[in-house]
Amino acid sequence: MTAPAVRPIAPDELHRFLDVVGTAFLSPPVTPAAVEARRSLFDIERCLAAFDARGRMCGVARSFATPLTVPGGEVTASAVSSVGVLPTHRRQGHLTRLMRHHLDDAVERGEPVAVLIAAEYPIYGRYGYGPATEATTLRVDTRAASWLDEPRGEVELVDGETFAKVVEELYDRIRPRTPGHIGASTQRWQVLAGVLDVHDGEHERRRNALKALWRDGTGEVQGAVTYTVDGTWKANRPAGKAHAELLVAATPRAEVELLRYLTSIDWIASVGVALRPVDDPAPLALVDGRAAQLVDRSDHTWVRVLDVPAALAARRYATPVSLVLEVRDPAGLAAGRYRLDAGPDGADCAPTTAEPDLTAGVGALGAAYLGGHTWRRLADAGWVDEHRPGAVASASAAFATARAPWCAFTF
Ligand SMILES: CC(C)(COP(=O)(O)OP(=O)(O)OC[C@H]1O[C@@H](n2cnc3c(N)ncnc32)[C@H](O)[C@@H]1OP(=O)(O)O)[C@@H](O)C(=O)NCCC(=O)NCCS
Repeated sequence: MTAPAVRPIAPDELHRFLDVVGTAFLSPPVTPAAVEARRSLFDIERCLAAFDARGRMCGVARSFATPLTVPGGEVTASAVSSVGVLPTHRRQGHLTRLMRHHLDDAVERGEPVAVLIAAEYPIYGRYGYGPATEATTLRVDTRAASWLDEPRGEVELVDGETFAKVVEELYDRIRPRTPGHIGASTQRWQVLAGVLDVHDGEHERRRNALKALWRDGTGEVQGAVTYTVDGTWKANRPAGKAHAELLVAATPRAEVELLRYLTSIDWIASVGVALRPVDDPAPLALVDGRAAQLVDRSDHTWVRVLDVPAALAARRYATPVSLVLEVRDPAGLAAGRYRLDAGPDGADCAPTTAEPDLTAGVGALGAAYLGGHTWRRLADAGWVDEHRPGAVASASAAFATARAPWCAFTF
């Protein structure tokens, strides 16, 4: 018997790694084909495993480095995924050890922030993550949906290979200007387009999904959507649903035109688009805004700030701001007092011994970082203490973004 431990896996432990996460996720057993498919997608050195006192692998987590778009810039983030602990070993501290190892690694690699998507809300706050972006689902009743302006451009149905290439180019155009977006590899688009089979049980659905592009008046592709349909009829009337799996648009016009297209398909009574930003403008583009609803609003990506000066200096601010922020971090990674002097053109942030204007847990800083929650909202929820009157208001104004930050896919 030895003390429970965490270490990166060896290449021949990948199958066991995937078995552990698959069991935790209530998924069917992994196949050898699935293991081989993941081998080229995962950075094995960043696949961590927890072992129990008898040396059995019982928990896992992996990370990958990615650019994270922040207001006016970008920062390198350590994105965490594939987190799971066997049901036989839950609540024995294995996740806590995995997260500590992961966060220490990220600090060592010089990654100023970490990001993840939480399966359940209460899991990651204790590790210093804060809910940074939210997501919602757009539902449109097609029979009530008429759009304010006339259709433009042209929609074309394409195959998966074409879709994968186009969507990658489109995404590369919008990612640097959309806070909350992370990097995506060519393989990610190939998987989502149903071109690359990673044997996760979803390939057939992705392959069979329809793929459409929208070209503007000059013929340039500005948007792409992949969607599935169900052709239900009720009382001898069409009651079908179209569900957009992925909608990537480089312009607001492209977004409206692709939605217009989906809502115009014969026999489709309702359209759903998941993972939309919470300020999705679509309802406002309709004659009757109530024909579209934004439902199931919830937290999406969580941010854990590791290096406060690097993280805060990486973004730009809507208004000039000068304040001393005291960060509480029981893990000791980001704790301290920092002076932020920042504005629309640049930002300086450095440790200080000055008296703080605001005190916040590191999770609150993560929640405010991308502009997804105002400091005012966080303070009103009891996450932030204000020591100088007006400090919350000026931080709120400075950290604000024109549109809500969001992330277009799960990882
Ligand atoms: C969530 C999961 C990874 C937690 O692993 P674990 O090894 O049991 O976690 P730990 O024992 O290190 O728990 C640490 C603390 O977090 C709490 N915690 C862990 N999971 C929690 C959950 N789902 N909800 C609420 N609290 C949770 C524990 O109660 C414990 O609290 P304490 O320190 O006050 O005692 C594991 O239960 C699991 O694999 N669940 C199913 C898959 C999943 O949700 N994966 C996460 C994907 S993002």
